[in-house]
Formats: sequence, C-alpha cells, structure tokens
Amino acid sequence: MGTESLRRLLEPEGWALLASLPPYEEAEAVRLNESLRAAGHDADLVATVLTQQHLRARARAKLGEFAANMLFTEKGLQQATRLVVAAHHANRYRQAGCTRVADLGCGLGADSIALAALGIAVDGVEQDETTAAFATINLMPFPNARVVNGDALSHDLSGYDGVFADPARRTERGRVFDPEDYSPPLPRLFELRTVVPALGVKVAPGIGYGHLPADTHAQWVSVGGDVVEAGLWFGPLARTPGRSALVIDAAGRSAALDCAARPDEPAERAPVGPLQRYLYEPDGAVIRAGGVATLARRLGATTVSESIAYLTGPSAVTSPFAEAFEVLDHLPYSVKRLSSYLAARGIGRLEIKKRGVDVVPDRLRAQLGLRGDSGATVVLTRLEGRHSAVIVRRMRPGAGTMDS
Ligand SMILES: C[S@@+](CC[C@H](N)C(=O)[O-])C[C@H]1O[C@@H](n2cnc3c(N)ncnc32)[C@H](O)[C@@H]1O
Repeated sequence: MGTESLRRLLEPEGWALLASLPPYEEAEAVRLNESLRAAGHDADLVATVLTQQHLRARARAKLGEFAANMLFTEKGLQQATRLVVAAHHANRYRQAGCTRVADLGCGLGADSIALAALGIAVDGVEQDETTAAFATINLMPFPNARVVNGDALSHDLSGYDGVFADPARRTERGRVFDPEDYSPPLPRLFELRTVVPALGVKVAPGIGYGHLPADTHAQWVSVGGDVVEAGLWFGPLARTPGRSALVIDAAGRSAALDCAARPDEPAERAPVGPLQRYLYEPDGAVIRAGGVATLARRLGATTVSESIAYLTGPSAVTSPFAEAFEVLDHLPYSVKRLSSYLAARGIGRLEIKKRGVDVVPDRLRAQLGLRGDSGATVVLTRLEGRHSAVIVRRMRPGAGTMDS
C-alpha cells in the first residue's frame, strides 16, 4: 500500500469512513467492499480502509484493546512490541524513577504507549513520515506523549532521564543480522548511555554474547513459549550486569531467571546424566540466555547428552522455565524401529519433538505410515551420545513439586 493511499486515512473522508466500519469479519469483506464502492467511495480508498480494518483485527493479539483505535502499516505492525512485553520495558523506567523518556525509532508507538500509560512523559522519534504520522494518532489518548518526525541520532537528549531504542532490523533487502547494520546501528545506540545512563535497547534474540557490553543486563523474553526479543538494559535500568530470561505465559504471568553474572561469558554447560523418569524442555528464553545449567540445578536434573538442551531428573517439578514430560519408554532411533514400535501400539497421531537429531518432523511422520486411534509424543534426541526416540507424556501444569 503506497504512502499516498495511507495518507488518505488522515483526511476527513478516509478518517470518517474508517470510523464507520464494523469490526473486521473475513466473511463480510467482499460484500463490504462492494457496498462502500456502491456508496460512491473510490476503489483505492475502500481498499485502504478495509486493509486498515483487517490490520486492526490482527493487531489485537499484540496490542489488545488499543488496536481498535490505532493506525497501522503492515511493516509497523510486524515490528511492534507486544503490549505485555512493552509493559515490562516501561516498568523498568518507572522503577528507576525515570520521568521523561525518548523512544528512539518509535515505529507505530507500542513502547511509547506503555511508557505513557505509566504516567512517564515520552517523546517518540521516528524517521519515516507516514509511520510518525500514524504514531501521532496512536498516542493521541496520552497528553504526556508526542512524536517527532526525525533522525534518532540527531535528537537532542538534554532533559531526558531515560532513553529507549528499538532499532529496525529489516532493510529494503530483508532482515539484517549484524547489529552494525541495524538502523540506527547498535554501537551508535550504546554510545548514548554516556549522555543518558538509563538506556534500554531491544535487539534480536539471536544476538551473540560477544556484542554485549560488560555493563549491560541482557534479558531474553519469551511469550507463550516463543522467544520474541532480547532487551539490553544499562545504568539504573539494570539491577546488575549479566544475563537473564523473562518467561511470560499466555495469561500474561511472568517469571525471571538469572542465568549468568557476566553478559559476555560463555553459557555454563550442564552435567550429562542417564535418562530418568522425567524429561524437561527448557523455555527458549532460558536457552538463549545460557541458563540451562542454572535451570538443571533448580530442577535437580542433568542434561541428556553433551550440548543438548533437554534435561532429565528423578522427580516431577513444575517450573515456569521448562515444560515437563513423564518418560514412558525409549529406544534406539531408526525409522524402522520407531515405525514398528508405534504400529504395535496403534499410534496414529504423533507429536514429534527433536533436538540434536537431523530430522524433518513432517517428512518423518509420512515415512512412519502411522495408523491407529491412539496418540503419543516422541522426543528424538541423543541420550549420552546415542540417537534415541523417547516416548513421553506431557505433564499437566502444576502436577509436580513447585520449582522455587
Ligand atoms: C522496530 S521499529 C520500532 C517499533 C516500536 N518499538 C513499536 O513497538 O511499535 C523501528 C523503527 O525505527 C525507525 N528508524 C530506523 N532508523 C531510524 C532513525 N535513524 N531515526 C529514527 N527512526 C528510525 C524505523 O522507521 C522503524 O519504524
């Protein structure tokens, strides 16, 4: 959708038309398009408002009720921080006593909204003109927020006691992985802490420990099991330097695990031990933060093989940082052996989990020729170096002793 089309949403006809639409319903989209055109609106405007209505519906998962009154671009929505995560960001600034924060590269304004909602004055800085205009609309309910259309690195930081930056990690050519290629580049953003010590920067979860300055606290975040970002926190926003994992469940409850005392130290290796009665799959944020060995200690567990992030222990422990399974059986892994094992038990539905074994689950499922009414979960991995299939049953949350 071109910039000109998007700008029509800010004109009286587009604005009124968008406001008149009912909530998005896929089954109604074609009929609605026809009726708006029959009412005399031109095709480009109708397409623009209907796309906007659809983006608002999609944005609800990330931004909740706010989405219904916001304006979106496809790219801006993809890059927006989920509100539940933005609220954690904002809370750090509040706890550090920040009163005025610059949100550099504010995009459509999700992080700014969370800061403003906590009563913190926030200035979003956004270089893309349409995105900045949309962010201005999105922040309209907050008199303590405003948006500046300009370059983040040229923004005068005097008068701020906090800075947040969420650099773009996509260019015209696609996703960028080198932090030097972020916009603005990560090293330039790090320099800002000499001006405003309370600096926070959101980065890709794949960032290497070698990019982390010694004075940062790096926190990997997962939501409902998906790792969504790493936050790099400096000065009063960081309790201590190091690495941690923040795990947020589908209901928005969160738990944090300290994983390393120095941000750039290699991940500690957990000891290897034989398969026991329970198997644990650590949350992705814990793995990325290098906290598998810490988690193993908390669960009284060992790892199933060198460098494999499955843990095993003798007792059932419920933890926000790992999913727990009861081990029912295990066998050396080959397609043939697994196939006859499953056939003998009438297993027709199979969940395949894997780590450390080169298998494409959908292809394997087809090769296994599953038949039968029963279901099972199989974990394909290495047990003390040997390729194995472990048959497991997922534990109900709360079915074991609480991890504390
Ligand atoms: C990842 S998005 C920010 C998303 C935002 N935190 C949110 O939750 O909605 C990054 C934004 O930075 C903007 N940007 C990139 N380089 C910039 C620069 N030098 N100055 C200002 N904005 C910039 C991009 O246009 C993009 O909208």
